[in-house]
Amino acid sequence: MALIEMKNISKDYHLGETVVHALRGIDLQIDKKEFVAVWGPSGSGKTTLLNLIGAIDDPTNGELTIAGKKMQGLTDDQKSEHRNETIGFVFQGFNLVPVLSALENVMLPLQIKGASLAEAKKQALIRLEEVGLSDLIHNRPAKMSGGQQQRVSIARALVNNPSLVIADEPTANLDSETARMVIEIMRELNEKDHITFIFSTHDQRLLDKVKRLVRLEDGKIINRETE
Ligand SMILES: Nc1ncnc2c1ncn2[C@@H]1O[C@H](COP(=O)(O)OP(=O)(O)O)[C@@H](O)[C@H]1O
Ligand SMILES: [Mg+2]
Repeated sequence: MALIEMKNISKDYHLGETVVHALRGIDLQIDKKEFVAVWGPSGSGKTTLLNLIGAIDDPTNGELTIAGKKMQGLTDDQKSEHRNETIGFVFQGFNLVPVLSALENVMLPLQIKGASLAEAKKQALIRLEEVGLSDLIHNRPAKMSGGQQQRVSIARALVNNPSLVIADEPTANLDSETARMVIEIMRELNEKDHITFIFSTHDQRLLDKVKRLVRLEDGKIINRETE
């Protein structure tokens, strides 16, 4: 069974009298353990596509199934429960809590779920080690580089053991060398822990790191390639 199944998905945004067709007839299947880049120019529909996969937004038409669950008809509460159980998110702007240390930032999702302090700390330390940050766990975000902050946010995305990590332009705020390193860390985690990663980028220089490429243009998939 595919982890993500999109059948003839479309998404329209209504701006007053105008309708923006952000996605037009997307058919896409992503299996467990895949490492997928959604690549396309600005405005091609990358964020819209990832928001649908992340159950943050609903399609206008079509059928979307994630981890065996049909998204249509779920209540907001059911969707957020599904998100918490299944998906980790990484953002372009890192979205770390500035007053918390790296360790506390990574512990947070577990504490929200009700884990004990000791358990949250144990899991967070494991994830921070995986992203190579064991030495910086007590630093606040402002004391870390962009690449280090993004590694903290990857550790945070993983701490609830999601089956899927969604990252919308995770490298857009990073220089190209750091960007490559962040993608490499995601790829290592994908290979080691068999977590599915889907990330978007408009940076052509990162595409050699990718196992599968989904190219978007004007809300349509124009081509699919496998390495
Ligand atoms: N909330 C919104 N309201 C209206 N139009 C939107 C909204 N979000 C995105 N769009 C439009 O949908 C299209 C796809 O946008 P987006 O998914 O953000 O593309 P990308 O992430 O590839 O830059 C663009 O034309 C954009 O202007
Ligand atoms: Mg975008």
